[in-house]
Amino acid sequence: MAMRWSGRKLVLAIGGSMISFTIFLCLLNSISFSCHCEEKEVREVLCCSDSRPIKKQQGEGELPQPTIYVITPTYKRMEQIPELTRLAQTLMHVPNLHWIVGDDTSEPNRHIVEYLSQTGIPHTYLLTPMPKQYRTRSKALPKGVANRNAGLKWLRKHATQGVVYFADDDNTYDIRIFEEIRRTKRVSAFPVGLVTSYGLSTPVVKNGSFFDWYDGWRGGRKFPVDMAGFAFSVPYLLQKPKAIMPYKAGFEEDGFLRSLQIDPKEVEFLADGCTKIYVWHTKTRPNKPSKKTILNTKYDGTNLRQLQKDMILEM
Ligand code: UGA
Ligand code: MN
Repeated sequence: MAMRWSGRKLVLAIGGSMISFTIFLCLLNSISFSCHCEEKEVREVLCCSDSRPIKKQQGEGELPQPTIYVITPTYKRMEQIPELTRLAQTLMHVPNLHWIVGDDTSEPNRHIVEYLSQTGIPHTYLLTPMPKQYRTRSKALPKGVANRNAGLKWLRKHATQGVVYFADDDNTYDIRIFEEIRRTKRVSAFPVGLVTSYGLSTPVVKNGSFFDWYDGWRGGRKFPVDMAGFAFSVPYLLQKPKAIMPYKAGFEEDGFLRSLQIDPKEVEFLADGCTKIYVWHTKTRPNKPSKKTILNTKYDGTNLRQLQKDMILEM
């Protein structure tokens, strides 16, 4: 177990299965974690060590592979653990990966902290609540923006090399997408399935060069792309200290790519010249809160009392 203090900030590196929840709660209660992020409440809670169950070993004489930093926004709902489970099972197959999970909450969710810990995937759990002024207004929510910006802020402080990818918790990822983006020099782009009425969002490539974008909603965007359709390198991000994602629903990708100051013609086209789909913008149907049947006293003293703690019951 390794611990590192940096100002008011703490990084805990703990081998996944070694941690007992009791110890973890004690740590949580005794420490105040805050960082100098633009959203004051963003906090880093836990970073576990590299002890993944499935991991390709680096071959002898092979160059070390650039790290892939996956930034995943998430928020509390019945589907949260199932979504993260699906994503984690994919990420477990990817070597040299660090998962930055930004949770849209001000209090650590013990279910998520425990879940991440037992995956064995090297990760950082950040508390990244959406600022109140965006949550309460009637317009469409800028979903995942606080989470992703906090992830970028963390990277600017902790990383010097590697590649960054914004992976929402509900999409479907083929592991081949990660090997594609690993070689991103500056900014790369590739097709995403199940986006808009076109069923696809992708760069259009002609004779190996940028021709246009194909996306069912143009919206006056310079980069009409999906969040899952691009990646960028850490060195390039560090060259652009002002790069940030705007709190503007529908224009998050466009605003961020504009702030990276890249020309569409300079974008690197991956997935065999954008001829393959390795990621899909899938959506999970929201489930209704479960009935309270489990609370019936006849189940006292049974396993249902433990299971009930992990459930969201109807109000
Ligand atoms: C689409 C895009 O794929 C998102 O990248 C983009 O942020 C979003 O639209 C937008 O423009 O607002 P969509 O599938 O409609 O995403 O949205 P969700 O999957 O519900 O949310 C995107 C991400 O933000 C997810 O990882 C989700 O867990 C997270 N989220 C959502 C929050 O952190 N807080 C919320 O209140 C809602
Ligand atoms: Mn989604």
